[in-house]
Amino acid sequence: MKAEICVIIIFSSWQKNQKPLICILNYLWRKKMHILVIGGAGYIGSHVVKALVGAKHKVTVFDNLSTGLEMNLFPENGFIKADILDYGAVKKALQNKVDAVVHLAAKKAVGESMEKPEKYALNNICGTLNILNAMAETGVNKLVFSSSAAVYGNPEYLPIDEKHPVNPVSFYGFTKLDIENYMRWYGQLKGLRFVSLRYFNAVGYDEEGIVRGLEKNPQNLLPIVMEALLGKRSKVQIFGNDYDTRDGTCIRDYIHVSDLASAHVSALEYMAKGGESQILNLGTETGISVLEMIKATEAATGCKVPYEFAGRRAGDPAVILATPAKAHEILGWKAVHSSVDNIIKSTWKAYNA
Ligand code: UFG
Repeated sequence: MKAEICVIIIFSSWQKNQKPLICILNYLWRKKMHILVIGGAGYIGSHVVKALVGAKHKVTVFDNLSTGLEMNLFPENGFIKADILDYGAVKKALQNKVDAVVHLAAKKAVGESMEKPEKYALNNICGTLNILNAMAETGVNKLVFSSSAAVYGNPEYLPIDEKHPVNPVSFYGFTKLDIENYMRWYGQLKGLRFVSLRYFNAVGYDEEGIVRGLEKNPQNLLPIVMEALLGKRSKVQIFGNDYDTRDGTCIRDYIHVSDLASAHVSALEYMAKGGESQILNLGTETGISVLEMIKATEAATGCKVPYEFAGRRAGDPAVILATPAKAHEILGWKAVHSSVDNIIKSTWKAYNA
């Protein structure tokens, strides 16, 4: 049967004047993969799972549900409740005919990482080493890793591209950079191929309303704005209004979580086609200030956001912007959900449900 398909592809490619090998690879690339999504019940992970299922891949979620939510699990997918610190559980999960791994399970609060580095070293670094070792042992050699803009530290120029020096100013950022270095070595020594996706500011919710689990104890601007709108907090504190920016508040590169999710699908399909390891920024190169985000929220929801100006938060650069040109070039990926309006409306829909 496969031979017949190959003959048909070669014949049709000859008719279209295309290289048969490329057509065969394209055909094989489209084959359904079995993806182990580690951290697939979390905020970003659940959106990644939805995108993978939408692209017809088989998914098994591996999550300890420490921050992930049961309501983010889709009944049609496999689910393993386990911890990445449990080497045996990771290895067993990989032995179930897994083609590739997406790894998003990490502690991610920048401030906490400076107070409890040991927690971040254990979960983010030791946990990931378990995954890398288990992948090497079981022969699963494709990994999409959720990295962070935090690896860059304070910007030396803008927009930040992947050649920008890496100099994390938080322990969290250090853990992400450290893992990228491990992945490089495992690439050389163990045949690992990886795509490390450096997320900028992840925001928004699934516009179809299928993923609805709200983050427990959110630490980021937009969820805090939503909680203030709903009266769960008295007000939003804007950390600093004396920065050298257009309105004095910090500017960030906000990217919709559905755009992040589609990049994971593209990265997996890129590797399945034989693509080599990559490190890619995921941002939009469009900056939104804290005050602009609040004003846009008021315009989109028709509600007043209670806020006050407070002092600067330690470690906050005035402006962070990414160029996503490399992700576009390598993966053909583009952010299409990340307008301010989309970001706010989808988040409000999830919070106001
Ligand atoms: N902010 C406020 N008030 C708040 C919360 C945030 O004014 O109550 C401001 C911050 O000072 C910052 C902006 O809103 O200027 C965005 O802050 P977030 O905490 O939402 O996000 P960060 O830019 O600090 O950090 C995010 C991710 C990190 C990642 C980093 C990389 O949370 O994981 O982007 O740029 F490392």
